Amino acid sequence: MSLKACIYDLDGVITDTAKYHYHSWKWVGSQLDYTLTEKQNMKLKGVGRKESLDKILKWSGARISEAEKQNLLVQKNHMYLEFIDKMTPEEAFPGFREFNKLAKAQGIKVAIGSSSRNAIRIIDKLDLVLAFHAIVDGGMTENSKPEPDIFLLAAEKLQCEPSECLVIEDSQAGLTAAKKAGMKSVLYGDDKGIKGAHMQMNSWADADLEKFKSLFS
Ligand code: BG6
Ligand code: MG
Repeated sequence: MSLKACIYDLDGVITDTAKYHYHSWKWVGSQLDYTLTEKQNMKLKGVGRKESLDKILKWSGARISEAEKQNLLVQKNHMYLEFIDKMTPEEAFPGFREFNKLAKAQGIKVAIGSSSRNAIRIIDKLDLVLAFHAIVDGGMTENSKPEPDIFLLAAEKLQCEPSECLVIEDSQAGLTAAKKAGMKSVLYGDDKGIKGAHMQMNSWADADLEKFKSLFS
């Protein structure tokens, strides 16, 4: 068995959008008379938009109608997109482009597997639309992470078996999804609370394709 495909998460792995989500979710919290902390925001990493609101509602104890929920989700996304639309290609993490080029030069297929319904818009702002063989976002599958659907669809699009794929993720939801998909995984970042990865790297400067390949031998 050898490494045939890398499936990258987007938010927190290729660029830092958590700060934009935090600003927007904090505003949602304020509408519920609730102060969302940065620690809580970390727990929303990799979690879909609607599911994130459900968590905030649970933490705050607020009870609102379905129509109010929909309204908050629309407004949250509107606020978030104002940040996204100002993003520039320099916001891609240093070293990502180089790693991705190296992987492709070695015949490895590359895809995005993101829970975000805004993934293509973000990838466009980073000027990376043509950098991948496939892009799967949160609008393309029935279930979001931690279910495996997003990664399984990415593997299908790349015409690779799950066992030939390596997922690079920064969230617990994403690593659980990779495990359920039967894929190897690398944790991006140093969050000690996140479990289940086969390997860890602090940044793209640490990414070692030969080490990643050794996970498959
Ligand atoms: C994930 C983010 O990639 O996408 C989550 O880590 C976010 O924080 C989720 O909630 C859904 O994103 P969006 O852009 O569809 O609201
Ligand atoms: Mg992420």
